[in-house]
Amino acid sequence: MIIFSIETSCDETACAVVKNGIEELSSCVSSSSELHKKTGGIVPEVAARKQVEYIIPVVKECLEKYGRDPKTLNGLAVTIGPGLAGSLIVGVEAAKTLSFVWDKPLIPVNHLVGHIYGNFIGGNSIQFPAVVLVVSGGHTDLVLMRGHGDFEFLGGTVDDAAGEAFDKTARLLGISKYLGGKKLSETASRCKKNILLKRLPRPMLNQDNFDFSFSGLKTAVKRLVEKEKYLVNVVACEFENAVVDVLVAKTVKAIKKFSPKSVLLGGGVSANTQLRTRMNLEAKKLGVALHIPPPNLCTDNAVYIASAAFFNNNPSDISKISINPSLGIMDST
Ligand code: KG4
Ligand code: ZN
Repeated sequence: MIIFSIETSCDETACAVVKNGIEELSSCVSSSSELHKKTGGIVPEVAARKQVEYIIPVVKECLEKYGRDPKTLNGLAVTIGPGLAGSLIVGVEAAKTLSFVWDKPLIPVNHLVGHIYGNFIGGNSIQFPAVVLVVSGGHTDLVLMRGHGDFEFLGGTVDDAAGEAFDKTARLLGISKYLGGKKLSETASRCKKNILLKRLPRPMLNQDNFDFSFSGLKTAVKRLVEKEKYLVNVVACEFENAVVDVLVAKTVKAIKKFSPKSVLLGGGVSANTQLRTRMNLEAKKLGVALHIPPPNLCTDNAVYIASAAFFNNNPSDISKISINPSLGIMDST
């Protein structure tokens, strides 16, 4: 089964063609993030206008890369949420139009569930149940996945998402004005010794639940740098350590409680080197199979959207498909 997918939840315009949910035949991503760097943050109206500008060229390029007639496709998939309304509308309406013109079924996909399926690309044999940590710019969720489409919610952030905390702290430290998670991490890697070890809080670390809280961490960083002058790479290092400590500890707690056959990570923050390395060590110690998508499949793209659609194959009547900007990981599409 060959699926053509579209993802436009934020500032990436992405299309892909994927065979049987695991084999990438074509993938194109265009981003307006450079523009948002200039304004120091995303302006939803600007992101939506860029989606309008990019969608047709990206669809075209993706089809050209695929190199076969759209008649050979078996269906389409599209992200319906969560995300920015104006951005989502562009992808959803384009997908509905293509579904109508090509006369192929359209499968609506939850972006957060999509992130999990970055792990299935390439045909990894993933056993259930799996403890899943989805860490992106807008969400931090721990779920128990018993099978495709069968989730139990374990916990999530009560305020800011992990990626959001990375981005806000990167801005505060003057590292990057927009989506600075990766740059903050690169800055942290230049720190030889963390002389600030444990000077920042590890929020909710010892609470007996699977919830997270990251908004106070940014405030704590602000207080720390206001009081004394430290090298930016040391502050970045302590910040990254604090976030990763909590993400790893809560995931380990879930592994110990549910004894899953696998652990899956997904979302932009799962591209973080320290998180990957430390989760690997913990998974080895606990004897559980860990899967993390390659970095290019952690951040937003349409490949995993097609994969999620394949494994959860539930096409809808196109007249009933509409965006849902506030969709949660447990919400059905
Ligand atoms: O999943 P994603 O591409 O978009 C959303 O669905 O939100 O995640 C983007 C988030 C941003 O907050 C970005 O700063 C963060 O992922 N991110 C990272 C890294 N790469 C991306 N955070 C920490 N370390 C990284 N290497
Ligand atoms: Zn995402």
